[in-house]
Amino acid sequence: MSDIHWYPGHMTRAVREMKEDIKLIDIMIEIIDARIPVSSRNPDIDSMAQNKSRIIILNKSDLADEAATTAWMEKFTADGMIAVKTNAKNGSGLKVMKEAIAKASEAKIARDRKRGILNRPVRAMVAGIPNVGKSTFINAYAGRAVAKTGNKPGVTRGKQWIKLNKTVELLDTPGILWPRFDDRTTARHLAYIGSMKNEVINTRELACEFIKEIGQDYPDMLLKVYGFESEIKGEVNGIEAAFLNELALKRGMLLKGGEPDIDKAAALLLDDFKNGRLGKITLEKV
Ligand code: G4P
Repeated sequence: MSDIHWYPGHMTRAVREMKEDIKLIDIMIEIIDARIPVSSRNPDIDSMAQNKSRIIILNKSDLADEAATTAWMEKFTADGMIAVKTNAKNGSGLKVMKEAIAKASEAKIARDRKRGILNRPVRAMVAGIPNVGKSTFINAYAGRAVAKTGNKPGVTRGKQWIKLNKTVELLDTPGILWPRFDDRTTARHLAYIGSMKNEVINTRELACEFIKEIGQDYPDMLLKVYGFESEIKGEVNGIEAAFLNELALKRGMLLKGGEPDIDKAAALLLDDFKNGRLGKITLEKV
């Protein structure tokens, strides 16, 4: 499928708005999904946010492999970003965010001070591809208890800034980036985490690819979670389809004629992954 398909009008608009918003900010807070740190980034952000202090949040860290998250944080730190892991849903990691923002503000405050400017707010925005947890993060981190500062001159009408503390303000609406579908792996990984509409992809095929993929990094996982492993080799569609077949039978997922409902089993497996029921999994390693 050509890229154009993934760039509908509203996304072009979103990118344009984001480019305008970026002009107003000092700190770019990029949120990614800790389970797929490569596929959940849009590399365009590097050029869009040039000369900005950068914070990268590995969100949904509750669902990701801890060792992998640590390795990614080291990598992003080496790349000059301030890396933080969070679970925006339960608020863990948000305390560290405070320090990260303070650190990211230092350069701007020092620059202002040199020019004799004191107490000018440092401004930040949150950006990321859909579904990584931008809104959840903004609500958890800044939504409660803080008053919006309202419209100000020089700010596009309707823009609202949330005062995080005496020096820092956060744009209340996140910037939406579009994921990149340069290769099949990226598209697949985005589909696993639910960032790509399911109708684009065949659930059964996707589940088979998923089984194949996690079999490499987490070979015991399916056995541990479901209590069986498929041994039937040489099936037309391979061992993965055989696993789904068995899963459907074991869970009583049957079609009218009593045949196993493979699509239902495939959906169940992917859903279990999405909701963390398979354990902590990172699909992309440093
Ligand atoms: P977005 O603004 O970037 O598009 O994402 P949003 O905040 O809407 O979050 C997308 C989904 O991810 C939400 O689930 C949200 O609860 C969940 N989420 C956000 N942060 C975390 C996290 O750190 N850990 C976990 N486990 N989940 C997180 P939802 O809308 O309820 O959808 P669903 O849970 O029914 O799929």
